[in-house]
Amino acid sequence: MCGIIGAVGRGDETLDVLLDGLSNLEYRGYDSAGVAVSGGELSVAKRSGELEVLEDALAGKSLPGSVGIGHTRWSTHGPPTDENAHPHMDCTDTVAVVHNGIIENYQSIKEELAAAGHEFESETDTEIVPHLIEAQRADGASFEEAFRHAVGRLEGSYAIAAVLEGSDTVYAARNDSPLVLGVADDATYLGSDVPAFLEFTDRVVYLEDGEVAELSLDGWDVTTLAGESVEKDVRTVDWESEETGKSGYDHYMLKEIHEQPRALRQCLQERVDELSGTVDLGDDIADAVQNAESIQLVACGTSYHAALYAAELFRSQGVPAQAFVASEYVTSPPPHDDDTLVVGVTQSGETADTLSALRDAQRRGVDTLAVTNVVGSTAARECDGVLYIRSGPEIGVAATKTFSAQVLAVNMVAAVMGNGSASHEFVSALRDLPGQVQTVLDETNAREVAERFVDSDAYFFIGRGYDYPVAMEGALKMKEISYKHAEGFPAGELKHGPLALVTANTPVFAVVTGETGSEKTVGNVKEVEARDAPVVAVTDGRTDVERYADEVLEVPETDPRLAPVLANVQLQLVSYHVAKQLGRNIDKPRNLAKSVTVE
Ligand code: AGP
Repeated sequence: MCGIIGAVGRGDETLDVLLDGLSNLEYRGYDSAGVAVSGGELSVAKRSGELEVLEDALAGKSLPGSVGIGHTRWSTHGPPTDENAHPHMDCTDTVAVVHNGIIENYQSIKEELAAAGHEFESETDTEIVPHLIEAQRADGASFEEAFRHAVGRLEGSYAIAAVLEGSDTVYAARNDSPLVLGVADDATYLGSDVPAFLEFTDRVVYLEDGEVAELSLDGWDVTTLAGESVEKDVRTVDWESEETGKSGYDHYMLKEIHEQPRALRQCLQERVDELSGTVDLGDDIADAVQNAESIQLVACGTSYHAALYAAELFRSQGVPAQAFVASEYVTSPPPHDDDTLVVGVTQSGETADTLSALRDAQRRGVDTLAVTNVVGSTAARECDGVLYIRSGPEIGVAATKTFSAQVLAVNMVAAVMGNGSASHEFVSALRDLPGQVQTVLDETNAREVAERFVDSDAYFFIGRGYDYPVAMEGALKMKEISYKHAEGFPAGELKHGPLALVTANTPVFAVVTGETGSEKTVGNVKEVEARDAPVVAVTDGRTDVERYADEVLEVPETDPRLAPVLANVQLQLVSYHVAKQLGRNIDKPRNLAKSVTVE
């Protein structure tokens, strides 16, 4: 999704700071980039394509000024062209605006502005904003008044920032799209998320919907759209800037796969007491989950697979639980009662579909809990409770370490449901899990498996019970980074249709861990083998599935509830190596974005 960076107070370094910020935002996914710097005059440069196209266009040029904004665009209105790239300007080329989100009423405003003589150069919804500001200024409004007026006319989702020629101020506002200030002694920054400016400051101020931020050479201020002052907390984020680098790995995805042991340890830290066999997530979460008579989980993509897993886990505790794709939950909200808890599972805490589902639940008076990675994210702020999964920043578009931590976190929630006590065996299994992930990373043969099957027509993934969400996740990972056809199925469903697709050139990855139902999955594997399809067993060795497999990806034996984490690490690695051998853009797969902030 689009990214925003802003900087005020960095003098001659402004352009470099903006370009650094845009580079830090590349992981969100984008197809164009641009900057605007305001000094005595307003300079704008923007290009479709990779950031380096813009950098090449700017090589040897200086854009003077200490006030600037920058943007990476992920196309919604109009294709990725230079004209549609942000910043957008007004007719007089004195106002520049960047925007994330979708302005739903832009067409009628555009017609109104066109009728008044404004000329548009792009197909975007964003371009109406500088023209609205221009129109107000022509009527005598100050930059600030014109900005507030323009924002007040917009319907939809937006994070917006604007600069004006000759002004030392950036104005910014948000509705349903994240925006955060970075506060340093000598400068103030603006970002669609923290990594945009984390190398410059770790002190942040999260903007809320309906607030306007003013960043100037004198500092920063936040007010309501009506102009009333708002007290804001300055928080310190505990992510290190180095955590957002690749640390010598070829890709962020590979680095993040290898960070899983640490991410899991962080997730467990000070929450699980091995001696007493207790799990403590704090009184608020304990109250919320122990009072819940039923649980509805809402999530998207990889987080939805973690939610599917969680629903099965909670049901095994005797609590009725169901996972919903967030966008469908909003379309057709399921019935709830007074003691229903809605749990939003979202790495970023900013996914529009998930936020919309959580808000829908809140409007209906249902309690909400966010399971998220990003401290201070919208889901964390808006939900009644929050459980952080503590994975550290995840930059690769493909979610990896956060899935593992989500699975671990919901296991802790399940333990808290049972009054916080877990068996000593289970607590030991939790403690051993990070080390077992390390064993998988050290001993995996995923690269060889990927090499053998890289030319396949398609990949199928099957699993049953806790292994089913892993099959789904294995397929999602494969399709998103390799661009190859991949599908996940409940193992028992294969024979009800998908088996027709199985050929000698469609490997079937069978996730077979634990005991419950595993023998039945082995039966399904035999059906596949009988049709000449290669079988890759991902297994902890509790069945004889290996006898029917062409390749085996082994995982250490653990509690059946935790085995899916280990199996999933193997599948992450297979997808990674297939995508690498195919030369794909692994960290920024085509058409995708890290944080999907539109519905
Ligand atoms: C995962 O690899 C995907 N990039 C995507 O499915 C992601 O999990 C989904 O968009 C949800 O994101 P969230 O966890 O930040 O809400």
